[in-house]
Amino acid sequence: MSAPSSSPAATGAKADRGAFSGRTAFIFAAIGSAVGLGNIWRFPAVAYENGGGAFILPYLVALLTAGIPLLFLDYAIGHRWRGSAPAAWRRFRRWTEFIGWWQVLIALIIALYYALILAWATNYTIFSFDQRWGDDAAGFFGEYTQALGGQDATISFDVVPAVLISLIAVWAAIIVVMALGVQRGIAASSVIFIPLLVIMFVILVVRSLFLPGAIDGLDAFFKPHWGALLDPGVWIAAYGQIFFSLSVAFGIMLTYASYLKKKTDLTGSGLVVGFANSGFEILCGIGVFSALGFMAQAQGVAIDEVVTAGVGLAFIAFPTIISEAPAGALIGVLFFGSLVLAGFTSLVSIVEVIIAAIQDKFGLARIPSTLWVCIPLAVVSTALFSTTMGLPLLDVMDKWVNEYGIVAAAAVSTIIVTYVLRGLPTLRDHLNHRGSFKIGLVWFACVGVIAPVVLGVSLTLSTLELLRAEGTYEDYPGWFVLVFGWLMAIGLVVVAIGLSLIPWPAGSNMHKNDSDGDPIAPEVEAGLGLVPSPEASTPHELRS
Ligand code: PFF
Repeated sequence: MSAPSSSPAATGAKADRGAFSGRTAFIFAAIGSAVGLGNIWRFPAVAYENGGGAFILPYLVALLTAGIPLLFLDYAIGHRWRGSAPAAWRRFRRWTEFIGWWQVLIALIIALYYALILAWATNYTIFSFDQRWGDDAAGFFGEYTQALGGQDATISFDVVPAVLISLIAVWAAIIVVMALGVQRGIAASSVIFIPLLVIMFVILVVRSLFLPGAIDGLDAFFKPHWGALLDPGVWIAAYGQIFFSLSVAFGIMLTYASYLKKKTDLTGSGLVVGFANSGFEILCGIGVFSALGFMAQAQGVAIDEVVTAGVGLAFIAFPTIISEAPAGALIGVLFFGSLVLAGFTSLVSIVEVIIAAIQDKFGLARIPSTLWVCIPLAVVSTALFSTTMGLPLLDVMDKWVNEYGIVAAAAVSTIIVTYVLRGLPTLRDHLNHRGSFKIGLVWFACVGVIAPVVLGVSLTLSTLELLRAEGTYEDYPGWFVLVFGWLMAIGLVVVAIGLSLIPWPAGSNMHKNDSDGDPIAPEVEAGLGLVPSPEASTPHELRS
């Protein structure tokens, strides 16, 4: 450890960015982020539609060749450059700061609508007790959200009181957890919620397995369609699922890694997170398909008629199952409670990307930065999403922010790191320095070749699909898709570039100490964030 720097900016600074108490806390928080709605409501349908049991193969290949390697990349950048996304990217090379802001803005958009899903799930946990949807779950959901949609919908932002109240409750809970800080808020909530989630979900799976028809559901889910492996679309779907599910390239894992002590085994931790997330994902597939098998049998239809994902699965199919199954209320509470727990720890992680950035930029303490970020976020999220436009907005923003936000940001960052900055060797050294195993050329190939190629192809395919589609996306009015889809996604990049041009104030964390109290990078303090080329710089921990 070096002696604390005595430069005026560094003293007294101890930047107080917060830190995880250790590796376990970090692993729980990272699993908390990774395990989210992607696992529960996205994976089962994606796997089913892309080869069933055969999907496991591309899925594992994607996990090993892209998910885990990109997780390592995120960890290495956050840990090596010890900062929020904009600070870490700026320290990496000054002009790459815009990537960090791009990630922050993506996080911001996701946070706005993710809170809505949590609010719905919270309400539905309560509705499960008396199965308030009666025997028409779809009709009830329509009434409950009062969602407008379709070409002829008159766009109106009328407040839906039931949603308003739970959305406020979600934001209040988020503010409390975020204000408590990295260890006492983020890590502590994951350490409690993740085991609870696993217990609840295991009970749900066991209960579902005993429902009549469950075995048929599992049979449909696991039955391998080997021919699917020849379809490139199946492989793209596997990579897409892995990227989203592991929360890579969101800026989340980068931010979390910046709160780790210097002497941390990053690669070992990454493996634990990667496999824990996928393990839970497969468990979700089993639970969801047992329940769908029951539903198909109860309604006397084929499984493929009842398979859905996303909002339809959670708020229409599951309520139907709950009404039809014996002890349905128990299934309801376990299912919606799991959605709340899984979603909450993911929302925490995405909000942290924004808070960390504001904290670094202005050198603020935890509570002011939490309030500066969360109050405006809560107000905008509540104002926009507790209205009759909540569902259509969520639908369009989610589609564009995923397909043109996360995927594009991931593609751009892997290409820049590999080919423009030529930064992989430095990051490899950083990972190997404390890692429980060594990574090398294979990692370079995954990050520098496989990831950009797959991401580029999926970007192209989704563009072609949108251009080829007749009419507008989901029949929403053209201007609506233009504003909340295209302009939003492109706007994020433009605003990110703008933000990266704003100078860092003297009191920012760019000029302060890192969470261990050591100067982050002397060259940063000396030279306004201008960092020597990675090849020329010594890995951070070797300097101390
Ligand atoms: N890994 C998360 C999931 O599977 O749901 C992805 C995610 C979504 C993280 C939204 C954070 C978030 F706010």
